[in-house]
Amino acid sequence: MALQASILPSALSHRKEGKGSNGVLKESAFLGGSVLGHHMAGIQLPVLRCQASLQGKKVLRQGVVVITGASSGLGLATAKSLAESGKWHVVMACRDFLKAEKAAKAAGMAKGSYTIAHLDLASLDSVRQFVDAFRRSGRPLDVLVCNAAIYRPTARKPTYTADGYEMSVGVNHLGHFLLANLLLDDMKQSDYPSRRLIIVGSITGNTNTLAGNVPPKAGLGDLRGLAGGLDGRSSSAMIDGGEFDGAKAYKDSKICNMLTMQEFHRRFHEETGIAFASLYPGCIATTGLFREHVPLFRLLFPPFQKFITKGFVSEEESGKRLAQVVSDPSLTKSGVYWSWNKDSASFENQLSEEASDAAKAKKVWEISEKLVGLTD
Ligand SMILES: NC(=O)c1ccc[n+]([C@@H]2O[C@H](COP(=O)([O-])OP(=O)(O)OC[C@H]3O[C@@H](n4cnc5c(N)ncnc54)[C@H](OP(=O)(O)O)[C@@H]3O)[C@@H](O)[C@H]2O)c1
Repeated sequence: MALQASILPSALSHRKEGKGSNGVLKESAFLGGSVLGHHMAGIQLPVLRCQASLQGKKVLRQGVVVITGASSGLGLATAKSLAESGKWHVVMACRDFLKAEKAAKAAGMAKGSYTIAHLDLASLDSVRQFVDAFRRSGRPLDVLVCNAAIYRPTARKPTYTADGYEMSVGVNHLGHFLLANLLLDDMKQSDYPSRRLIIVGSITGNTNTLAGNVPPKAGLGDLRGLAGGLDGRSSSAMIDGGEFDGAKAYKDSKICNMLTMQEFHRRFHEETGIAFASLYPGCIATTGLFREHVPLFRLLFPPFQKFITKGFVSEEESGKRLAQVVSDPSLTKSGVYWSWNKDSASFENQLSEEASDAAKAKKVWEISEKLVGLTD
């Protein structure tokens, strides 16, 4: 910290935003009408905390982290862990505002330690609106965590995002792809010493593992479905052009997440200093991710993971792991896929051949840029 203080003075003064009525007005625009009172009171807290600390010696300002899908499971546990540390203000980017607010309260997150903002990753317009609203809030952006996901293992037919893309890839990959690309500019402007962009991956997209070999296996093929628009009409709803399979669509989207992280690293790490990372947080068998699975699976999956595979991780523990990737000074390496061993110690894991295929990552990036409207 002492070293950081001497080389990065602008990140060490108290917050620029949130001062007086001007800051409150900006924040209000981000939060929308009905909850203004509650949050207006809340945003003063970080400022007071830093000022108090400044009386002694210089301290790093609170970091600002945006976490998508922070209304449950891993995202909520991470938000709680970071908010409780007092070092982070958490922007919970969620599609269901009330659910997120209830979840934050039920988790015991202190008023003022978080802000809830609307983001529906199934709509590219919503992604753009979120980015505009975030910018109007006047907050800096230090870390972005692309965490939200849906998993539709029992779906017989594809459903589609507002923009007409198969839902799992649309939400898990394309929505995040646009969000991360747009917010990269904001992260470039941040004066925070360690800026990070994290995209949550999964073991299920990695066919070099036992879990990754449970059928249907992930596989992007020659990307013909993605290139064709993933719309189920003029092209297949699956990235590889095959028949729709909800479980495979999720796994394919996770490969895209891990490829995207590496492509971000190759394109932007050297130029920006931002660290790009992905992770497998462990099998958090109790989260809402499995909500669409058959009831018997939901009943048996947690004990199976706890007692047979011993891969089970509690939501709290997984939240601590992701919080580590956000803020631990020893996890700053870029282009890394983090995992944890049975003693919960982090290590750099190997991705499968496909999930580390640089040529495929480039192709996925270029097609995705077109699909989300970043290029023609
Ligand atoms: N659970 C595991 O074992 C496991 C293992 C490896 C990786 N992961 C990864 O961990 C991450 C979090 O999953 P989880 O297990 O915590 O599941 P979860 O509890 O279901 O959380 C998923 C979150 O994503 C949000 N979400 C879904 N669709 C959205 C949309 N269209 N727009 C915005 N947000 C949306 C959900 O919002 P609502 O609350 O509104 O539904 C929820 O907050 C995912 O990336 C998943 O792939 C999980």
